[in-house]
Amino acid sequence: MTVYTASATAPVNIATLKYWGKRDKTLNLPTNSSISVTLDQQDLRTLTSAATSADFKKDNLWLNGKEEGIKGERTIACLKDLKKLRKELEDSDSSLPKFSEWGVHIVSENNFPTAAGLASSAAGFAALVSAIAKLYKLPQSMSEISKIARKGSGSACRSLFGGYVAWEMGDAADGSDSKAVEVAPVDHWPSMKAAILVVSDDKKDTPSTTGMQSTVATSDLFQYRIKDVVPKRFEEMKQAIQERNFEVFGDLTMKDSNSFHAVCLDTVPPIFYLNDTSKKIIKLIHKLNEQEGKIIAAYTFDAGPNAVVYYEEQNENKVLGLIHKYFHQVPGWEKVANTKSNFVDSDIEFD
Ligand code: ADP
Ligand code: DP6
Ligand code: CO
Repeated sequence: MTVYTASATAPVNIATLKYWGKRDKTLNLPTNSSISVTLDQQDLRTLTSAATSADFKKDNLWLNGKEEGIKGERTIACLKDLKKLRKELEDSDSSLPKFSEWGVHIVSENNFPTAAGLASSAAGFAALVSAIAKLYKLPQSMSEISKIARKGSGSACRSLFGGYVAWEMGDAADGSDSKAVEVAPVDHWPSMKAAILVVSDDKKDTPSTTGMQSTVATSDLFQYRIKDVVPKRFEEMKQAIQERNFEVFGDLTMKDSNSFHAVCLDTVPPIFYLNDTSKKIIKLIHKLNEQEGKIIAAYTFDAGPNAVVYYEEQNENKVLGLIHKYFHQVPGWEKVANTKSNFVDSDIEFD
């Protein structure tokens, strides 16, 4: 029996302008455009291998060593789209093996906590779709492939690109223009760094999907956010990235994180993702920026208590020095190229 295989890795991306809200749940179409920074491949990433063979009768998925099967509608939707594109290739070249008719076996591993607010669904679905697109030798562009990853998890479409990425919400009802595009490659802003502060690796109580559905249905503040706040911020943030203006980038990043957590609080019943440690980190960064007289560090929090702090390399000692002073580092978690550090909840005191 011949088994064909391909592997791909995808890093997580951390949004600086948050996606929160769907206008179409099945197609995963968002209520606003978003922007993110994709982290280094060596840091938080998913590694996925896909295999197909005429002897594989059904699709199957193993996640972090456990057989999960293909249960989720969203995984089914991704596989359906990928097989459809493969079928088009096979129809145009009859010498190609009929992968579109065979089962596909997917083995995926995250090297960081799953479902803890560190964007595992982003890296996970980006790696899944990339590995199968590679196996199927699909000729489509990354933006085209990003539309398939988007159906797995909205944030996943942005992890198909490195560097600075926008997810343009689009307005077509079929989602044909809701895709990821590159704003700037990673080497456009080589001094940019991200420190991941793992406050808790527990699975979150409210998954992103249900949390945002609840916000759309109940929050008044959310309407203000999507109409009056985000569209302007989207343009301003792209410009700040293009101009490598850290002060504007940092200011908008922190404001957008707080705006997102404010709409979570305005949801009925309210959703709390930040904990006391998260709030201490927020205060610490504002205090640092105040002392410096300018913004040299910017925090952002996804759907969980863990912080990501963006800063420029020349300020690394100041930023990480201060963070180290107030947090205990957990032994056992490696620190990779100064872009990833791990900390636990601890008492922090500062004036
Ligand atoms: P997170 O903040 O980690 O993105 P979400 O609630 O958005 O949390 O999504 C978590 C879900 O994403 C998991 O329960 C799982 O269904 C899916 N997921 C995570 N990693 C992978 C992976 N490597 N392959 C496929 N699906 C994954
Ligand atoms: C707060 O992409 O995980 O991280 O599309 O339902 O899978 P689904 O949600 P998901 O939501 C991410 C929310 C966020 C912000 C962001 O990444 O833009
Ligand atoms: Co997610």
